[in-house]
Amino acid sequence: MPIQAPKGTRDILPEDINQWNFVEEEFSDICRRFGYNEIRIPVFEHTELFQRGVGDTTDIVQKEMYTFEDKAGRSITLRPEGTAGVVRSYIEHGMSSLPQPVKLFYQITAYRYENVQKGRYREFHQFGVELLGASDPAADVEVISILSLYFEKLGIKNLKLNLNSIGCPECRAEYNRLLKGFLSDIIVDMCDTCKTRYDRNPMRIIDCKEEHCKKQLVNAPALLDHICDDCSKHFDSVLQKLEAIGIPYAIDKNIVRGLDYYTRTVFEFVSENIGTQGTVCGGGRYDGLVEDCGGPPTPGIGFALGVERLLLEMESQGIKIPKQPAPDIYIGSIGEKAALASEKLAWQLRRNNIICIKDIMGRSVKAQMKYADKLGARYSLILGDTEIETNKARLKDMVNGETKDISLDTLIGRLIKNKASEWL
Ligand code: HAM
Repeated sequence: MPIQAPKGTRDILPEDINQWNFVEEEFSDICRRFGYNEIRIPVFEHTELFQRGVGDTTDIVQKEMYTFEDKAGRSITLRPEGTAGVVRSYIEHGMSSLPQPVKLFYQITAYRYENVQKGRYREFHQFGVELLGASDPAADVEVISILSLYFEKLGIKNLKLNLNSIGCPECRAEYNRLLKGFLSDIIVDMCDTCKTRYDRNPMRIIDCKEEHCKKQLVNAPALLDHICDDCSKHFDSVLQKLEAIGIPYAIDKNIVRGLDYYTRTVFEFVSENIGTQGTVCGGGRYDGLVEDCGGPPTPGIGFALGVERLLLEMESQGIKIPKQPAPDIYIGSIGEKAALASEKLAWQLRRNNIICIKDIMGRSVKAQMKYADKLGARYSLILGDTEIETNKARLKDMVNGETKDISLDTLIGRLIKNKASEWL
C-alpha cells in the first residue's frame, strides 16, 4: 500500500498554488502598508512556552498539542499558533529596546490535534499580526483595520466582525467570583472539563462546546457587563474609532476566545458561508503575555487568520484568482545541432524574464508540439538542421495558428523588446 499523508494534513498542489501565492502576497503587501515587518519563527518550541503563553487550561494545551521528547529528553511542541513564539522572540532579541511599538507579521503553519472536518485540519496555515508596545485603543483599531482592508482588497464581502471586551485581570477576578456563584449549584451536572475549569479558570467554562453545558450557561452573567471603568473606556474608544472609519461591528458578549492570554478587546471575523468552522480570523489584546513569558511589562494585540478558511470563503463568494501565467514560448528541437542552439536560445530568454519551456525529453516534433499545446504556451518555435543552416526559424502563435519566419540573429532582440502579444 502506498503511504498517504497523515490525517488532517493536505498537499497544496501546483494547480492551487497561485491562489496561495496571491493571498500571501496581498497580505504581505497590506501589512507593509501599515508599517509591519515580517518575522519567521521556529516550527517547534519548548512545550513550556505554550503552557505558559497559551495557558494550561485551554483546549489547545490540554487536548490538541503535538508534544514529544527530543533525543536529549527535552519536551518539544509543534507550534499550535504564532503569538507565543513571536512574544518569545520579542523578549529573546531585546525588541523592547527598539522604537516602540514593534509591528510584526507572519505567515506560518500551525499544528493542532483536532477532529478533522471541512475548515478544520491538524496542519493548517495562519497569516498573523502582532503589535507590541501599544496600549492605546488606536492600536486595536489598527490591527482590525488591516483585516478590513485585506478583505476589501481580496473582494470578500459580508464577513461579520464580532467584538467583546474581557477586561483586565482585576475585573476578571471579580467576574470569576460572580460566575462561580452562578455555577455553584449546576457545576455538578456539567462536563469534566468544566469541572476542572471551575477551580482553575472559571471564565473558560463560557467557551465549552458541549451542548448540555451550553444550555446551563444561557443565563450566566456576561463579563462585558462587569468590566472596570478603565476597561470600559478603552472598549468604548475602540468602538468609536471603528465607527469613525466606517468598519461595521457587532458586540458579542459570548466571545472569550480559546487562548488564555487575552485581556480587554477580543474579536473574530465570522462567515456564514463555509459551514460550522466559520471563524475565519480571531484575535485580541494580550497586555500581560510578554511579562508572563519573562519579559518587561509590554501591551500587545494581534490576530491570526486561517488561510484554508479564507480560501474556502473566497471560493464560496465566487472570487476568481488570477491564474499562473502560461509559458510565453515553447522551444522545440530536433537533432544534436539544433538541441545545442535551443539550449542557448532558452538560456538567453530566461535571463531576460521570458517564461520559456524547452524540450528536455528528446521527443519527436509531433510529441513536442502536443506538449507545448498542453502547457498552453503562447508561441512555439522548432529548431532543426534546416533552421540552423538557413539561420531562420518559424515562430508560431499557438492561439490563432499564425506563423512568421524570423532570422535567428534578430529573434532574441525581438522577443526581449516586445510584449509577448506583439511578437509576430
Ligand atoms: P485562534 O482563534 O486559535 O487564534 O486561531 C486563529 C484562526 O486560525 C482561526 O480563526 C481559524 O481561522 C484558524 N484555525 C484555528 N484552528 C484551525 C484548524 N484546526 N484548522 C484550520 N484553521 C484553523 C490564534 O491562533 C491566536 N494566536 C490569534 C492571535 C494572534 N491573537 C492575538 N494575536
